[in-house]
Amino acid sequence: MTTTAGAKADANLVTTITATIDGFEVTVPKGTLIIRAAEDIGVEIPRFCDHPALEPAGACRQCLVEVAAPDRDGNLTPMPKPQASCSVELTAGMVVKTQETSEVADRAQKGVMELLLINHPLDCPVCDKGGECPLQNQAMSHGNAESRFRDQKRTFEKPIVLTSEVLLDRERCVLCQRCTRFSEQIPGDPFIELQERGATSQVGLLDVDVLDFEGFAASGLPTEDESGRPFSSYFAGNTIQICPVGALTSAAYRFRARPFDLVSSPSIAEHDSSGSAVRIDHRRGKVMRRLAINDPLVNEDWITDKDRFAFRWQDLDDRLTHPLVRDDAGVLVEASWPEALERAAAGLANAMVATKAKGVGVLPGGRVTLEDAYAYGKFARAVLGTNDIDARWRATSEEEHAFLASSVAGTGIGVTFADLEKAPAVLMVSFEPEDEGGVVFLRLRKSRGSQKVFTIAPFLSPGARKLDATLVPAVPGAEGAVLASLPHDVVAALKGDGAVIILGERIASARGGLTAALALADSTGARLAWIPRRAGERGAVEAGALPGVLPGGGSAGSAGAKIALVRTWGIESLPAAYGRGLDDILAAAASGHLGALVLGGVSLDDLPPSAEAAIKKAPFVVSLEVRRSGVTELADVVLPVAPPSEKAGTFVNWEGRPRAFEAAFETSAVSDHRALDMLARAMGADLGTPTVDAVRAELDSITVDDAARASRPSFAAPSSTPRGTAVHAVLASWHLLVDAGALQDGEPHLAGTGRVAVARVSAATAATLGSAGVVRVSGAGRGSITLPVVATPGMADGVVWLPANSPGANTARMLGVWPGASVTVKGLGA
Ligand code: SF4
Ligand code: FES
Repeated sequence: MTTTAGAKADANLVTTITATIDGFEVTVPKGTLIIRAAEDIGVEIPRFCDHPALEPAGACRQCLVEVAAPDRDGNLTPMPKPQASCSVELTAGMVVKTQETSEVADRAQKGVMELLLINHPLDCPVCDKGGECPLQNQAMSHGNAESRFRDQKRTFEKPIVLTSEVLLDRERCVLCQRCTRFSEQIPGDPFIELQERGATSQVGLLDVDVLDFEGFAASGLPTEDESGRPFSSYFAGNTIQICPVGALTSAAYRFRARPFDLVSSPSIAEHDSSGSAVRIDHRRGKVMRRLAINDPLVNEDWITDKDRFAFRWQDLDDRLTHPLVRDDAGVLVEASWPEALERAAAGLANAMVATKAKGVGVLPGGRVTLEDAYAYGKFARAVLGTNDIDARWRATSEEEHAFLASSVAGTGIGVTFADLEKAPAVLMVSFEPEDEGGVVFLRLRKSRGSQKVFTIAPFLSPGARKLDATLVPAVPGAEGAVLASLPHDVVAALKGDGAVIILGERIASARGGLTAALALADSTGARLAWIPRRAGERGAVEAGALPGVLPGGGSAGSAGAKIALVRTWGIESLPAAYGRGLDDILAAAASGHLGALVLGGVSLDDLPPSAEAAIKKAPFVVSLEVRRSGVTELADVVLPVAPPSEKAGTFVNWEGRPRAFEAAFETSAVSDHRALDMLARAMGADLGTPTVDAVRAELDSITVDDAARASRPSFAAPSSTPRGTAVHAVLASWHLLVDAGALQDGEPHLAGTGRVAVARVSAATAATLGSAGVVRVSGAGRGSITLPVVATPGMADGVVWLPANSPGANTARMLGVWPGASVTVKGLGA
């Protein structure tokens, strides 16, 4: 039998070699490891330390095989000892014998197994890994039936708390170094290492300040918090999954379930716009844990800790199980579905047809699936008769709307993860990949050394530093001007074939930024990738959940797109008036010029307090939510809807790749599209969105002519860039990956791995504030935030950075302003 191992083996492009494994001739690309070549002919060599995504270590010696290779004269010469197949490349003419055909290899592997089991505890019945443990499996398939070891096993104090989320039981460790290699090679958070020698070798914490805040020590603040947390990494949970034994366990999952009691369902993570593939393990309708699924196109082998651990939010006590309606005393009380639908229908109909008709605004939020976003859009346009719909629940702009309408909606898959990896140069604009992109950060880090990375930001963040990025400093709001006058070396790098400009959603606040980015892409040939933070943002753009965008990407102002949609929907006409976006909808509600609001999964924490005041002012509010929240408390009718694990749907990731998923388990909870379908029926209309299949079929039938798309934005950057002083500084802010977001509720172990909230200023600004160590930042006459201050190298003077929504620092809500606004900074004394 001859095999061309690995799809990579395209003989026309790759140099291949031919060798023999267990008597089979194999042809593989030069450089292929023996263990991989053996896999291709169906021979599984036992292994512990080998992992395809990590550099070979040859640490565990479990994969020993017998090898003979031709010498210089072409004579086949056996190697003197068995070789580690995970770290030896197959070469031309080599003859390899695995445990299948070699007594030597079999004995060597059994010997290593016996050695590993000498000190390994026999606690499989209580070990989290029991039932899915490679050591357990290989001991059964390749080990001896009886142990010859009669001495006392080595024990350690257990467990060591590596993070609030990751625990280490050292006596189970087989010293494979997967965890240490992962931490160093993949996210660049080398917090653990192999320590000591011989029988006392063990994995231990590195004594480093991996909080990574330069100047932190100088600030006099501890590098560990009170709980003794010595580091933070957003990706540490991956070590639990790749640990081949039960040495690393999750504090949240430990001792809570047995693998064979769990039902596993594939799904897509809801925490960012990457669309990472995850496996949901559940038991009797409750999610017990989530694991990464290898998806070579998207997240490869890894997910963020947020994707892995943040799932308890849907099972908390405030989960909505019944509709709520406000009674005559103004109290929300449980109601039946027919009763709630009737109330909601009457309230919305009244807002539409009353003498002083003011219309209804629809704000679905950025966490909805493609199908749900489509239903919100169709409900607004076909039932409520308005284009007043906007899924963006964050800082937005008219320029951003024009950019999304012209350059994102309906463009399909554009820049991909693979393109990012291959790009010779990447310019990040208002985008922090580690905090806002999850596995985007890991993909970029994979190309470290062969890729130039530039970042337009107020300072070089810890994540950007780990990418070896070059900072192009920008005061928030000045990104447009900075883009228009980039240094020559940046522009030259972007002219490289395959270069990419990544635009984060925060660039919406910088007038002229998106216009300048489009011009830069035109002049350099670099491709643009828009990477929003939330999972539902791209899908909402595709589904037409924007005031000026119809499903499929047609402009709401295009007669052709409207005619086609009217036919598809079987309605008489679409609303003629130009739709209002988030800010205008809320402003209309605040000034009493809106009859009602329909709100999806939105949080008051994400917008300044004016949003709450606007919702309060709206005469009638319908909220579709999973849990009780500040928004549901303001609603007149609350319709409970399903979280992602309990419904089917699609998240369109930032690439434009549809990531469809099924419900992990069935409950009585309904999707937003189903709830809206029922609400439409109560209003005498047929929305046609009762099932996810019905929505997908209708979406698939919509085609949009290029002529029907909106034109590109053309906005000039302000002639003067924002300038701050030490006292009246310009506010910079973004969400840290692990923060106080509602989808992380109920997970204290994950919260413990979040970065400490600090205020950042330049060294000069810090000096002006005095050696206070703590600052109070106040905004626009509203509240204030008090945080430790860190002098940050390279940061522009007159700028203060705060985390957007960390414990004790909810910036928009507490200060009442967006990034780019002027805030007052005061040193508070040591
Ligand atoms: Fe390997 Fe697990 Fe030990 Fe780390 S803790 S070296 S992954 S066995
Ligand atoms: Fe080869 Fe560990 S798998 S040495």
